[in-house]
Order: sequence, then structure tokens, then C-alpha cells
Amino acid sequence: MFDHKSTRSWCVLNTAIPDDDTSSRSTVSRMPDQLVRLLIERFGSDAEYILDPFAGVGTTFRVASEFGISGVGFEPDPRLYDVCRLHQSDANVFNDVAQNATLYDLPLCDLMLTSPPFEEKSLISAVGASYLVTLMDIFSGMRRYLRRDAHVLVECVNIRLGGVVTRPLISQYVEILSKLYIFLGEFVVCESSENFNLYGYQHTTILIFVNSKNEQD
Ligand SMILES: C[S@@+](CC[C@H](N)C(=O)[O-])C[C@H]1O[C@@H](n2cnc3c(N)ncnc32)[C@H](O)[C@@H]1O
Repeated sequence: MFDHKSTRSWCVLNTAIPDDDTSSRSTVSRMPDQLVRLLIERFGSDAEYILDPFAGVGTTFRVASEFGISGVGFEPDPRLYDVCRLHQSDANVFNDVAQNATLYDLPLCDLMLTSPPFEEKSLISAVGASYLVTLMDIFSGMRRYLRRDAHVLVECVNIRLGGVVTRPLISQYVEILSKLYIFLGEFVVCESSENFNLYGYQHTTILIFVNSKNEQD
């Protein structure tokens, strides 16, 4: 049950990890469980399969399993993949980059919920491929594993350095992902605790798309 303040376009969470909770910490930025739960409740609690091409430690899959939903996705870092597999023994999660999806036999998914690496250096690309070209390549490849009309929920933040936005990632994501999916809008998630944990920001943005475009569009 979600017990924080929430409307259809925003919510306020307390995502701070208690000081004595070392089990929840990891080297990767995790999506807060409460946020994943809220998004699944809103966009696909009756889904059979959920797709997360950037699985990390598998928060999406762990929370989805509470709803009886199976995970499908990729995590190339073997240490994170091992954590992911602790919570998710499903055979549809692979220790590989999402660009290699066609090597595997994946089921059709009812919902995508993902949080890509926001820094160029953290996204594994083909040699010479830029960050945005790689993202476009991955999200384009994922379309064949998504049911028509499935929602596509992508977390995104603007990159700030010294109080200045050095990379307006949110508008860049909207621009490239709108070529693949229909953009429905955004859901803003604010952090209420001072010890905030939303990727080091006090808010984050979930971009909401629907998979209604034809592959040739
Ligand atoms: C922000 S983290 C995802 C965190 C995840 N939502 C969670 O709660 O654990 C992004 C992940 O994408 C992975 N990654 C980087 N390049 C990738 C690629 N080409 N394909 C798939 N995953 C990739 C990174 O190893 C990292 O774990």
C-alpha cells in the first residue's frame, strides 16, 4: 500500500536509507522500491512480464515479483547481475548488454520500467558510438519485445555541475524516445527527507510513453 502524498502527476517519497541499513546500499544508484511499486500499481499490476534493459541490482524485478510479474532484462556488470539474480531467478535476465537482446529468446512484455545510466562513461556503447546514439539503439531494439500499447516508463534527470545544467538530459530523452514511442508526459518524484537519496537529487522525473508507433514510423 502506498502511503505517501501523491497525485496523478507527482508524488513525494522518503527514500533515505537508514544509517544502520547496509543491506540496501550498493555501488549502483537504485530506484527506490516505493517508486517502482507505485509505478507498477499505476501502469501494469496485471502484467505478466516487465522489461528493464538496464536492470542494475534488479529493483524493478524484485518489486515486480510482489505482483507475480516476471522480469526480462539485461545487466552487463557481473557484480550487479549477481545481486539481481539473488532476487530474481527468472531465466529471462541476462548478464549482457541490452544491445545483444536479439541473441536471446525473450517473451513479449506488457510494461517497460527502466533507469538508464545518466553518465556517458557508465553506459556501455559500441566503440565510437555516442551516448544518445547508443540509447536510441537500445530503446529501438526493445520495441520488438513490447506489446503494442504497453507503457514505457523511463527515469531521467538533468545533469548538473556546480549548480548549472550541463546536460539537459530530460529534453534529450524526450526528443529521441518520441521517435520510437508516443510521449504522454511526465511524473515528478520529490524527496521529502534532507538525507535525500534520489540519485543525489531532490527530485527525479519519470517520462511516460506508450508503444503505439509502428516500427517504420
Ligand atoms: C542506473 S543503473 C539501474 C539501476 C536499477 N534501476 C536498480 O534499481 O538497480 C543503470 C545500469 O545500466 C547498466 N548498463 C550500462 N550499460 C549498459 C548496456 N549497454 N546495456 C544494459 N545495461 C547497461 C549499468 O551497469 C547499471 O547497472
